[in-house]
Amino acid sequence: MQVVKTIAEARALRQKLGGTVGFVPTMGYLHEGHLALVKQASIGNSAVIVSIYVNPVQFSPREDFGAYPRDLDRDLELLRGEGVDIVFVPSDDEMYPPEFSSWVDVDKVTERLEGASRPGHFRGVATVVAKLFNIVQPTKAYFGQKDAQQAGVIKRMVADLNMGIEIVFVPTVRESDGLAMSSRNIYLSPGERQAATILFKALTLARQLRQGGEKDAGKIRWQMTSLIQKEPLAQIDYVSIADAETLEELNLIDRPALASLAVRIGKTRLIDNMPLE
Ligand code: PAJ
Repeated sequence: MQVVKTIAEARALRQKLGGTVGFVPTMGYLHEGHLALVKQASIGNSAVIVSIYVNPVQFSPREDFGAYPRDLDRDLELLRGEGVDIVFVPSDDEMYPPEFSSWVDVDKVTERLEGASRPGHFRGVATVVAKLFNIVQPTKAYFGQKDAQQAGVIKRMVADLNMGIEIVFVPTVRESDGLAMSSRNIYLSPGERQAATILFKALTLARQLRQGGEKDAGKIRWQMTSLIQKEPLAQIDYVSIADAETLEELNLIDRPALASLAVRIGKTRLIDNMPLE
């Protein structure tokens, strides 16, 4: 496994690879969710490239960029165990030199949910992923269903800008009690960790109601909201039942829908989602 810090080195190594290249962009502090993406990439390609970069421009000034957990040695050990070929670990200077001034803005799908709650977030995500795609030039790139809107934004960007990269969605990996794995779970105190299971409980309730024949999205949102409000440590940011493709809120569930939510547990903001077939 080769670990490189500069764009020039990453490009040079990439050029030597034959066959298909699978790419997994990450912000590090890796867990089984990230590794599920890496495993899928290994199965589907002749070589795998992973990037580890905590991208400053996707965090607003009020968010946790400085506190975001980092442990490069442990990450590299985990990636070695997965047989990864190249790990790209750029610095901020490498990615955003002082003269940097080009941005990728994806409209519509970024307007709701995470886009509404975190202005500028998806501009930062789309910009860094476009840069990483240009550097790595992958055949396929792997994104988690956990961040369904992010994966949708990247898919839109790749189609609109004719990047010719196949985007593969990988199902959410969960802890045994249902909590979606996330690098941010480390922020939770033991009491908060217990309270955090309310996200999965609310999503499971949504799926059960839908499977029971409920088509009124408002009723499902209301039931999810009342359940979460029973958890004293939980503060709802949004609860959504939306068109699975466009993420527009639904009144009547007459097409594939996605239940998603953002909830603060203490100071930690968690997101999760579940498709409602
Ligand atoms: P990060 O949060 O590190 O996530 C990297 C990838 O892992 C994303 O595609 C995310 O959806 C996926 N992932 C995270 N938790 C998961 C889980 N429990 N199960 C399955 N997949 C999971 O998302 C980012 O980084 C950044 O925004 C990035 C795309 C790297 C751009 O900076």
